[in-house]
Amino acid sequence: MTAMHMLSLGEVLDKLATRFDEADLFYGHGTDNAWDEAVYLVFCALQIPFTADEQIMSRAITAQEQQKVEALATRRLVERLPVAYLVGEAWFAGLPFTVNEQVLIPRSPIAELIQQEFATLLPRTPEHILDLCTGSGCIGIATALTFEDSRVDLADISPQALEVARANVQRHGLESRVRAVQSDLFAALQGPYDLILCNPPYVSQQEVDELPPEYRHEPALGLLSEDDGLAIPLRILREAADLLAPEGVLIMEVGYSREALSARLPGVPLLWLEFAHGGDGVLLLTREQLRDFAQHFV
Ligand SMILES: C[S@@+](CC[C@H](N)C(=O)[O-])C[C@H]1O[C@@H](n2cnc3c(N)ncnc32)[C@H](O)[C@@H]1O
Repeated sequence: MTAMHMLSLGEVLDKLATRFDEADLFYGHGTDNAWDEAVYLVFCALQIPFTADEQIMSRAITAQEQQKVEALATRRLVERLPVAYLVGEAWFAGLPFTVNEQVLIPRSPIAELIQQEFATLLPRTPEHILDLCTGSGCIGIATALTFEDSRVDLADISPQALEVARANVQRHGLESRVRAVQSDLFAALQGPYDLILCNPPYVSQQEVDELPPEYRHEPALGLLSEDDGLAIPLRILREAADLLAPEGVLIMEVGYSREALSARLPGVPLLWLEFAHGGDGVLLLTREQLRDFAQHFV
């Protein structure tokens, strides 16, 4: 009897990346190419650290490990499930987060702002921060870790998303400073906040219908907003000033609804932030601006 040929990690990755390439998958939930997607799936499935050195590529993969990878790869290919959901793990601002299909997979360009400690965007170090529409809690948790003395509220309307956010608060040891609150936008919140960060739903039904199959595994509640995607962002612009401290700042992502929002608010000086690592459609307004232009946000 001949011994079964054990593949090396490098061989398993090569084969999987080729299959991903041929299947014409959509990337955008953590990676942007077939090789990185294969690495993401296999390293997480086999609990190999991403920091392992190059020699790891010759590590033998057992039959049992191959079966485990194959089961996940099949779901990626057939069900078009994003890898983050398959392995329950995503990265944001260089930090690991637990995810499941109750939360959007973290990918907001706001990560770059957090990693730069918001550079010159804030008048002073924020003490009380709100992550509105928090999902997995990634934005608020990464910000809490950046500003070590801050207190952070994570708010979401979805109890299932808040369960994931709470798991991530615990994972990062932030229970003493970060709390998760169920709230329909600002309804159950008090403030005043020095900084409100928000990646709300901003996708119209028509755009949702045109998205690749991978997005259908994400909760519609995290994507969909009426009125060409603008209903929720406009509500936030109407209500945020009341919860901001003097000199407080709102930073909100509206992604590709940027053009529609600019067209709807021609007289408002929306400051669109620039990103070195990709992404756009993130605006900044101060409390004073939100007050001054309040009549535009109807
Ligand atoms: C685009 S996801 C963002 C998740 C997370 N902040 C991120 O960047 O990955 C939007 C989130 O808003 C929540 N949401 C939708 N409508 C809401 C509302 N009226 N009030 C509060 N949260 C809401 C959804 O449950 C979802 O978790």
